[in-house]
Amino acid sequence: MDRFHFPPWVNTFTLLVIGGVLAGGAYAGGLLFFGTLPEVMYVGYQPTQPVPFSHKLHAGELKMDCRYCHYTVDQAAHAAVPATSTCGNCHNAQKTPDGALAKTVVHPDSPKLQPIRNSLATGEPVLWEKIHDLADYVYFNHAAHVNKGVGCVECHGRIDRMEVVHKAESLAMSWCLDCHRNPEPHLRPLDQITNMDWDPEETSEQSREEIGRLVREQLDVHPNTNCTTCHR
Ligand code: HEC
Ligand code: HEC
Ligand code: HEC
Ligand code: HEC
Ligand code: HEC
Repeated sequence: MDRFHFPPWVNTFTLLVIGGVLAGGAYAGGLLFFGTLPEVMYVGYQPTQPVPFSHKLHAGELKMDCRYCHYTVDQAAHAAVPATSTCGNCHNAQKTPDGALAKTVVHPDSPKLQPIRNSLATGEPVLWEKIHDLADYVYFNHAAHVNKGVGCVECHGRIDRMEVVHKAESLAMSWCLDCHRNPEPHLRPLDQITNMDWDPEETSEQSREEIGRLVREQLDVHPNTNCTTCHR
């Protein structure tokens, strides 16, 4: 008796299915691998930086505005980490032509600032380690948040108290969505975006809730939760 034969298309079909399973596996594997790198996953991720730069000192005690250094944060998707020339405004120890140091230079001989002095002399950038790093398949935009009343502290915590920056929030999808579904408690007036001490209940009659609702109306805030908002 003749054996049963599958029709020829079944071969192609089987190949397609196997191919699909392999590609799916690789995709899932990729998501797992890149999605679970330490900088992606862990709240508290804190690599060692080439210069022991302290936000607690500069943003906290010296009260420098975040935008002095991260000046693209309200104009672009990325919040640029400053070029060495920004540090040079206060730490440039290069001598003037008459061999003197600028009077305003802070800690001209500090060994901690040696990499900054090297960078100013050679033009080679300082290689800061990235701390917050979403997977490449996620689209994020700082300006879209900062100009709609979401302050830095909502997502980065009390940076002004951190000697070394660490991730204060998970940056997981569920965390993004929680706020996109209910942004009001997280909104503040635009002139308070970088103020980490802002406490409306101390300075005004209105509650945080009321202010959030007002800001939402004024700025017409309607975050999306469709997949294509963040995965484009
Ligand atoms: C004097 C300049 C300066 C000021 C002011 C400043 N920063 Fe920074 N910031 C840096 C530098 C340099 C780095 C990279 C080194 C590091 O991580 O400490 C950085 C890193 C960061 C990072 C981590 C970036 C990453 O790799 O994920 C965040 C978040 C951040 N700053 C937020 C803020 C906030 C919020 C403020 C205001 C409260 C602020 N910064 C004020 C210079 C500054
Ligand atoms: C507006 C001026 C200003 C700018 C800009 C600035 N700093 Fe400073 N920085 C200071 C002051 C003031 C101190 C010293 C505070 C003290 O000693 O009490 C300091 C101290 C430091 C120290 C500690 C030095 C030591 O030996 O204790 C480091 C490191 C440092 N800054 C790094 C940086 C880096 C990196 C940048 C650029 C991202 C930067 N600073 C930008 C004003 C500034
Ligand atoms: C809605 C949440 C949110 C707010 C508000 C926010 N950030 Fe961020 N920030 C992030 C996320 C998420 C990343 C990682 C982005 C990535 O990997 O593409 C990040 C990264 C950064 C970085 C590293 C450079 C970069 O763009 O990847 C700096 C510096 C920074 N933020 C500073 C700030 C400052 C300063 C403010 C306030 C003016 C601020 N952020 C407000 C969520 C936020
Ligand atoms: C604390 C609140 C909050 C958190 C956390 C938050 N968002 Fe948003 N997001 C908003 C608000 C508010 C808007 C502005 C909505 C509008 O324009 O009406 C917004 C807008 C956006 C937009 C639209 C930008 C555009 O170009 O249209 C993207 C993309 C986005 N968020 C991605 C993210 C991602 C990714 C995360 C997590 C890593 C995140 N958001 C976390 C509040 C938040
Ligand atoms: C507000 C922004 C936002 C929206 C909307 C969003 N995502 Fe995500 N998604 C993220 C972020 C952030 C991550 C985690 C990235 C990381 O870990 O670096 C993520 C991760 C994922 C992953 C990887 C696996 C995982 O769970 O970490 C998948 C799959 C995914 N999203 C699918 C979707 C689908 C499907 C939708 C629509 C129902 C959607 N996302 C809507 C921000 C968003």
